[in-house]
Amino acid sequence: MHILVTGGTGYIGSHTCVALQQAGHSVVVADNLSNSKKETIDQIKKITGSRPGFYKIDCTRETAVDRVFSEHHFDGVIHFAGLKAVGESVEKPLKYYYNNTLSTMMLIDACRRYDVKRFVFSSSATVYGENRAPLVETMPLLPATNPYGETKAISERILSDCAAVNPGWSVALLRYFNPVGAHESALIGEAPSGIPNNLMPYVTKVARGKLKKLSIFGNDYPTADGTGVRDYVHVCDLAEGHVAALNKLTRGVHIYNLGTGRGTSVLELVRAFEEATGVKIKYQVAPRRQGDVAECYADASKAKKEMGWQAKRGLAEMCLSAWQFEKNYGQ
Ligand code: NAD
Ligand code: UFG
Repeated sequence: MHILVTGGTGYIGSHTCVALQQAGHSVVVADNLSNSKKETIDQIKKITGSRPGFYKIDCTRETAVDRVFSEHHFDGVIHFAGLKAVGESVEKPLKYYYNNTLSTMMLIDACRRYDVKRFVFSSSATVYGENRAPLVETMPLLPATNPYGETKAISERILSDCAAVNPGWSVALLRYFNPVGAHESALIGEAPSGIPNNLMPYVTKVARGKLKKLSIFGNDYPTADGTGVRDYVHVCDLAEGHVAALNKLTRGVHIYNLGTGRGTSVLELVRAFEEATGVKIKYQVAPRRQGDVAECYADASKAKKEMGWQAKRGLAEMCLSAWQFEKNYGQ
């Protein structure tokens, strides 16, 4: 298939371009480079031997999106492009609503005009709000705790409503849990600018001595060791989930959790990192972070049953690959 990957130079998008090309698909990336670099295209070429097409465009711009569609005949779109910093979305809600929902609408409209019937959307476990884990696709969505999460819930609804009036469309709403790790080549990975908000990139920065110590946000949650529990999933497993979705999609709207189904606490992740890499992580316990839930992990059975996809890589591989990428490319 010939696939448009928006946000394809980003963290999850770049790993998915690799998985798509290795599965025999051809890829065109559209990204405005607001949170990534064009050199990622060279890295994808180094890993796979072929260079994806690339357009530096903003997916909220109708004419720019139209140009890309007019120059290709796509079989499907995977829409990763979006802003994802939860804290920033609270401070600048309009920036998030504008960017994340308008880009989704522009792409849906282009699909309608150019008769592209497959659409895979990057959603997030954050749409479950304060539902209790294990989280199941059939749960009614609760309000997300921040505007970022709302942009995902709204985009899901827009896609569902549009699919309902476009018979023949196949839409996958993929709800990611906590993607971590990097490609085994250590040529692509997660490279946040500034001080990381997320646990794994923070841990790798502490391991390298770039940050002094990790603050563990709360040790009084109702969990086994009191620290927050999440479902960490290797980014390469996640990437393969997109290939499975494209291959197995049938008509209509299908929602899939992409997670391992296993919860890991912050302390367990720190220990797994130390064991996998041999590097000690200094930490201190700090107050809870606002908006965090105690536990968030998937019921991952639907993706396995319907798409034949399940995460294969374990915590040690997640930690080691994140560490190798940090040593190669960390700033
Ligand atoms: P990322 O920031 O690394 O990648 C997103 C890419 O989209 C970037 O390359 C950025 O430059 C691009 N982009 C943003 N707005 C754009 C626009 N208007 N036009 C064109 N390009 C634009 O983030 P990621 O971690 O790879 O996340 C990919 C998607 O998955 C996002 O939609 C994110 O919300 C979603 N998601 C991520 C996580 C996570 O923890 N990483 C969890 C759940 C969902
Ligand atoms: N944590 C710390 N210290 C840190 C960073 C995080 O203790 O410096 C803890 C958090 O409190 C939480 C766990 O580590 O218990 C994971 O936190 P992350 O920030 O790595 O991830 P979140 O689960 O908060 O959120 C992530 C993405 C969201 C996405 C969500 C669900 O950032 O965009 O997963 O997929 F919506």
